[in-house]
Amino acid sequence: MRHYITFKDLTGAEYKVLFKRAKELKIARRQGHYLCHHLNGRSVGMVFNKNSTRTRVSFECAINELGGHPVVLSSGESQISRGETPSHTARVLSRYLAGLVIRTYEEKELTDLAEFSTVPIINGLTDEQHPCQVATDIFTLTETLSPEEKLEDQIVSWIGDGHNMANTWIEAACVLGFGLHLACPPGYEPDKNISSRAQSINKKIKFFKTPAEAVPGTRAVNTDVFSSMGQEKETAQRLIDFKDYKVTSELMKLALPEAIFMHCLPAHVGEEVTQDVIESPASLVFEEAENRLHVQKALLEFLIPKL
Ligand code: CP
Ligand code: NVA
Repeated sequence: MRHYITFKDLTGAEYKVLFKRAKELKIARRQGHYLCHHLNGRSVGMVFNKNSTRTRVSFECAINELGGHPVVLSSGESQISRGETPSHTARVLSRYLAGLVIRTYEEKELTDLAEFSTVPIINGLTDEQHPCQVATDIFTLTETLSPEEKLEDQIVSWIGDGHNMANTWIEAACVLGFGLHLACPPGYEPDKNISSRAQSINKKIKFFKTPAEAVPGTRAVNTDVFSSMGQEKETAQRLIDFKDYKVTSELMKLALPEAIFMHCLPAHVGEEVTQDVIESPASLVFEEAENRLHVQKALLEFLIPKL
């Protein structure tokens, strides 16, 4: 039994299998074949301690289309917020569910549950990581590559906050071997443990002072909101600190001519990205959103054995 808490919980070879299956599921669904019976009536739980549109809906659809039933709860309405321990919660939920997706604050909440869970725990976003999103983004990037372009030869740029998305991109570059150029405002760098470990393995993970230095030569330009969920009180200060970390059409021109723009969404258009960039043909933001469904279906199939 495997959990999916950080991006490095799967190997490069396993991501290849996952992406191949996601592509098959995407093609089948577009031909009207929505249902398969992998989950065969089993239920998958989803705990949301933060807001969500894409993660919630794409997982609910994925679970339904795999022939399962999603059970959605927030810790506020369960006994978790009244202090029931991870040890008891995980062992109880494992008796009902075939897997559990969790969106919350600290990664420790997932690892504590994983210690006692006998079904896969899947990270639906924490302050440290957003692996389902980054796996999907890389799948989306690979869909745009020509047969001559190999993922490991590409460079991706990350502009902005060194929070969950940036940490996960760093882990992804480490697992999959592509280049990553990051430009984060001073004081908003990614997790030091994650970046130093990754940089010792992949020398193509590099930090730059400005977006204009990070973007040249990159095949995808990526950003995220200035203030993530849980950072709302810092919004005013972040608007000042991030003012030079906006993806504009001038910045996109510094990337490769075929460069794509990526954003996990939701976006604050006019802050981290301009309207013309997010609405440009280079922008794959809605493809990324759709692909969450296909990649997560493949992930659920991978983690939850067929009966
Ligand atoms: N990208 C993403 O995870 O979106 P939601 O917050 O809407 O789930
Ligand atoms: N960094 C953002 C991602 C949202 C999908 C957040 O944590 O709010």
